[in-house]
Amino acid sequence: MKVISITNNKGGTGKTTTTLNLSAALSSVGKKVLLIDLDAQCNLSVAAGANISGRHIGELLVGETDFESVVIKTRNFDIIPASRTLLSYEYRINSEPDSGYFLHEQLEGKNYDFVLIDCPPSLGSLTVNALVSSDIFVVPMQGENFAYVGLDEILQLSLKIKKRMNPKLDLGGILLNKFDIRTKFGQMVYSKLLSNPNVKLYKTQIRQDVSLMECTAFAQSIFEYAPESRGAKDFESLCIEILEQTNI
Ligand SMILES: Nc1ncnc2c1ncn2[C@@H]1O[C@H](COP(=O)(O)OP(=O)(O)O)[C@@H](O)[C@H]1O
Ligand SMILES: [Mg+2]
Repeated sequence: MKVISITNNKGGTGKTTTTLNLSAALSSVGKKVLLIDLDAQCNLSVAAGANISGRHIGELLVGETDFESVVIKTRNFDIIPASRTLLSYEYRINSEPDSGYFLHEQLEGKNYDFVLIDCPPSLGSLTVNALVSSDIFVVPMQGENFAYVGLDEILQLSLKIKKRMNPKLDLGGILLNKFDIRTKFGQMVYSKLLSNPNVKLYKTQIRQDVSLMECTAFAQSIFEYAPESRGAKDFESLCIEILEQTNI
C-alpha cells in the first residue's frame, strides 16, 4: 500500500482536481484506491458524490467512529468524506499527545493499493497527519507570483516530519498545473524550480482544460466526462509516472 498526500498550503492550485482524477486513473487500471478528504470545504467529497452530513474523517480521527462506518464505496473507489465542521475536530486533535499520528494509526493494516489524501490549504495538524501517514507527497503548483513561497514552507515541514516522525516520507514531485511557461511568472517559477536541488518535477504537466473544471460539477471523473480531452490524457500520463515511481 502506498499513501500519497496531495498538498499545497495555497488554495486553488489543483489539489482536489488531482486527487480525484489521479484516483480515477489508478482505479481504471485495476488498483484498489481509497480517497481521504481532509479539507473542511468538502470539495472532494461532493465531487465524488459522497454525503457530507454523515460520518466523516474528523469523527474517525478523534475516535468517535470506526473505519468501516466511515468509508463510502463508489463505483470507482472508496472515500472517507470530510465535514464542514472539520476544523473543530482539528482543534480537538491538537490538544492530544502524539496528535500527528492519528491518521497513520487508522490506516495501519488496511488493504488498498493506493490511499490518496486531499489536504487542506494550510500546514496545520491535519496536513501533518497526512504527511506522517504518507510515502510520498505531490505538490500541484501554478506558475504565478508567490507560488514558490508556499513550496518552501511545505518542503521545510516535510523535512521536519521525515526527520522526527516518518523517515520514509519523500517528495513525489511538483506537478505543474495550468502552468503557462510563456508568462514572466511562469518562467521565473520554472527556473527557480530547476535550480533547487531539493525539488523534483513530474514530467507530466496538467494543461488548462475546461473539462477538468466541468467534470467535478457533474460528479464525474475526467475519464467519464470527457475521455478524449487533454485533461484525460494528462492524468493518464501522470498515472503512468506514479505507477513507475511507486512500483505498485
Ligand atoms: N488544469 C486545469 N484546467 C482547468 N481548470 C482547472 C485545472 N485544474 C484545476 N482547475 C479548476 O481550478 C479550480 C481550483 O482547483 P482545485 O482542484 O479545486 O484546487 P484546490 O483543491 O487546490 O483548492 C477548480 O475550479 C478547478 O476545477
Ligand atoms: Mg481542494
